[in-house]
Amino acid sequence: MNEVLKAIRERRSVRKLKPDPIPDAERDLIVESALYAPSAKNAQAWHVTVVQNIGAIDRITDEVKAGIIRCDVERYIPLANSPEYKVNFGGSMVVILSIDPAVTPCPAEDTGCALQNMFLAAHSLGIASCWLNQVGPVADDAKVRALLTELGVPTRNKIYGCAAFGYAAGDLPSAPPRKDGTVNHVR
Ligand SMILES: Cc1cc2nc3c(=O)[nH]c(=O)nc-3n(C[C@H](O)[C@H](O)[C@H](O)COP(=O)(O)O)c2cc1C
Repeated sequence: MNEVLKAIRERRSVRKLKPDPIPDAERDLIVESALYAPSAKNAQAWHVTVVQNIGAIDRITDEVKAGIIRCDVERYIPLANSPEYKVNFGGSMVVILSIDPAVTPCPAEDTGCALQNMFLAAHSLGIASCWLNQVGPVADDAKVRALLTELGVPTRNKIYGCAAFGYAAGDLPSAPPRKDGTVNHVR
């Protein structure tokens, strides 16, 4: 199996990360991978905010948790009330992928392509990652938006997915079993 196929098979969402910093060169390779993702109509409507300052990461955690409560995002209330939950899962880098919905017809799909490129690039460099879905639903809460703006997220942009990156604390989890019956062939 070639390296790309191996990375696709072996990448996992890791929710226990170490605070060790990611070297700049590797960070840049991960970020650049997002920019090489396919995008609808080649809109490249994304903006990547790379947060490596732990104080800023903690502020994102606190504001997102408060925003979940304020906006009553029911599915994330347990996370917002969990003292253990942090948007970085203990890792040293959070990426806020925001996207201009006026520029691309497919903002969610473009986001998925860009994030998956980053996940695979990170994995190939020995860096673990996890999708982070909690920021998007509260991004237009006034206090959350104020923080995002302070961090450089363009005000017109929406958020369909963010990500945490860092070195895995322990072994990578094994792949969840694949579901049966998800493929058919027409020959
Ligand atoms: C659209 C999307 C949203 C996700 N949101 C979260 C999330 O908010 N928190 C989290 O821990 N994992 C999140 N994940 C990761 C999934 O839980 C994970 O991909 C799935 O359990 C399969 O595990 P694997 O990535 O290791 O193959 C998300 C994944 C996707 C594609």
